[in-house]
Amino acid sequence: MMAIVSVDDVSFTFENSNLEIMDNVSFAAKKGEFVSLIGPSGCGKSTLLRIIAGLIQPTTGSVKFMNKEITGPNRKMSFVFQDFALLPWLTNLENVKIGLSMSGLSDIEKNRLASELLDRFGLGGFGSYYPNALSGGMKQRVGIARAVVSDPNVILMDEPFSSLDELTAETLRSDIVYMLENKNISVNSVIMVTHNVEEAVQLSDKIVVLSDKPATVKKVISIKAGRPRDKRSEVLSKKMDEIYAILAH
Ligand SMILES: Nc1ncnc2c1ncn2[C@@H]1O[C@H](COP(=O)(O)OP(=O)(O)OP(=O)(O)O)[C@@H](O)[C@H]1O
Ligand SMILES: [Mg+2]
Repeated sequence: MMAIVSVDDVSFTFENSNLEIMDNVSFAAKKGEFVSLIGPSGCGKSTLLRIIAGLIQPTTGSVKFMNKEITGPNRKMSFVFQDFALLPWLTNLENVKIGLSMSGLSDIEKNRLASELLDRFGLGGFGSYYPNALSGGMKQRVGIARAVVSDPNVILMDEPFSSLDELTAETLRSDIVYMLENKNISVNSVIMVTHNVEEAVQLSDKIVVLSDKPATVKKVISIKAGRPRDKRSEVLSKKMDEIYAILAH
């Protein structure tokens, strides 16, 4: 199966601090795969995600998107943030339209697509409202709509559900899995940073367990189980135990 994103021997040192953050990290996200990155706080997960997004360059090694080296932000990869990162002075519709800022589409076209996406995420009536009128879950739906509106192949998510209550998080997790599985939606790979072992096991086809800084890949765990998954199943509980054990030493 083709790798959509391939991280090859990526090392990273912040120039200003000379602090080595990542050492020879490699893994791939193949077509249809949900990949989670998990590891201790401060080990470099967000930095790795930003390298994958092309926002910063690795010190050595490379990241490829569909076999082509990434040298800068790419319209086919979108980001979803933990704190939603909505602009409070723009309406929800305008926030979603930001996802189309590199598209070259007319404003009419952007309005149409952004409205469609808000409808799809159950926020049809909220386009002209500002983000502060929304609950956390609704804000994150706007964040996801902004990420998806440009028809990306890859969604990069940095702890997207960790500031939401569990019930809301659960609904949004299903939305993301639906996008990955639905052939009519362009998304064909998701890479998510999480602290939550249960969430990782519930969602992922592959979990990349990172060590403390400088981050190295301690183990890549594959989970071959259909969806939707039963978090309490024996297979998933065993995977959780395995990950906790790896994280513990
Ligand atoms: N601009 C910077 N210059 C120097 N060091 C930085 C910079 N940004 C982050 N760091 C350091 O790099 C390390 C990795 O940061 P990063 O945010 O990628 O970790 P993380 O795994 O996402 O952490 P968390 O789990 O807390 O979100 C941290 O030790 C951090 O202090
Ligand atoms: Mg982080």
